[in-house]
Amino acid sequence: MFRLLLSLAALTAVTACPQHEINQHSNTLNKRAGGTQDWTYEASYNWGMINSNYTLCQTGTNQSPIMLMITQGLSQNHAPSFTTGYSSPASGTFYNWGYGPAFTTNSTAITEAPSMTYDNETLYLKGWHIHSPADHTVQSDRSKAELHLVHADANGVERGVVAIRIDPGHSDSSFSSQFTSSSSSIPGFDSHEGIQMEIDMLQALKEVNMFNEFWTYEGSLTSPPCTEGIRWWVARNVLFVGVEQMQRILGVSTYSARVEQEVWMHGINV
Ligand SMILES: *[C@@H]1O[C@H](CO)[C@@H](O)[C@H](O)[C@H]1NC(C)=O
Ligand SMILES: *[C@@H]1O[C@H](CO)[C@@H](O)[C@H](O)[C@H]1NC(C)=O
Ligand SMILES: *[C@@H]1O[C@H](CO)[C@@H](O)[C@H](O)[C@H]1NC(C)=O
Ligand SMILES: [Zn+2]
Repeated sequence: MFRLLLSLAALTAVTACPQHEINQHSNTLNKRAGGTQDWTYEASYNWGMINSNYTLCQTGTNQSPIMLMITQGLSQNHAPSFTTGYSSPASGTFYNWGYGPAFTTNSTAITEAPSMTYDNETLYLKGWHIHSPADHTVQSDRSKAELHLVHADANGVERGVVAIRIDPGHSDSSFSSQFTSSSSSIPGFDSHEGIQMEIDMLQALKEVNMFNEFWTYEGSLTSPPCTEGIRWWVARNVLFVGVEQMQRILGVSTYSARVEQEVWMHGINV
């Protein structure tokens, strides 16, 4: 693994979750500069009111994130399959999206990235990022963090997010050990550093039993402009990391959870 300094503009980054590429770099840079980004996670209840482009944040019928309940049952539909598409480690750039650890795949063609299928659709991994605390709660319990694997169709249009809640447990996570091996190995939230490396994403999926149990629903981006048409899968299992691993993730993270949205036309598990 070698390190290099990159301008964020050089990254095809996956930043605010999941957000169109046109906006994301400038937003992250603006946040870092303390500049012109007009929204914050701390005031996410009012995004629809601050910019006419964000109306959907206020009026959308299936906004994310939402509260999930064991009593809703788990899904029998739209099961994601990762078996062949995630078979080899992804090469890409590890960095900080301004709110926590993130990774973007560097395949020249998106169709070379790790892929998943559900129903008859194939989606490709653009990258992942970690929110803290978690966006989705289950039975009103909020995990310390949440990993979002952002997937796009063959044209690069974001279509699905695979979400895994993260909490401290009794032993280290082998997924997490790929990037938390020392306290200096993760770029800080104010860093512009990008590290070229390979990360085996199958480890994360294995640590939640390959999504054998999950909720799924039709949702949205969790940051402005809150675009809808994104399918979410949330694993029932939590990915447990070691206490020190958890502290290293939290140590480079800033608050990045959107307030929970009312369940409306989300079609949970339907
Ligand atoms: C809304 O988005 C358009 C296109 O990106 C931009 O030109 C316009 O300035 C935005 N409006 C506001 C109020 O920010
Ligand atoms: C992708 O990553 C690998 C190593 O992780 C690197 O050797 C390669 O040059 C990268 N490709 C691009 C297009 O950046
Ligand atoms: C997938 O494709 C098969 C064969 O074309 C079709 O029978 C089936 O209904 C499709 N399933 C979905 C969920 O679209
Ligand atoms: Zn996200």
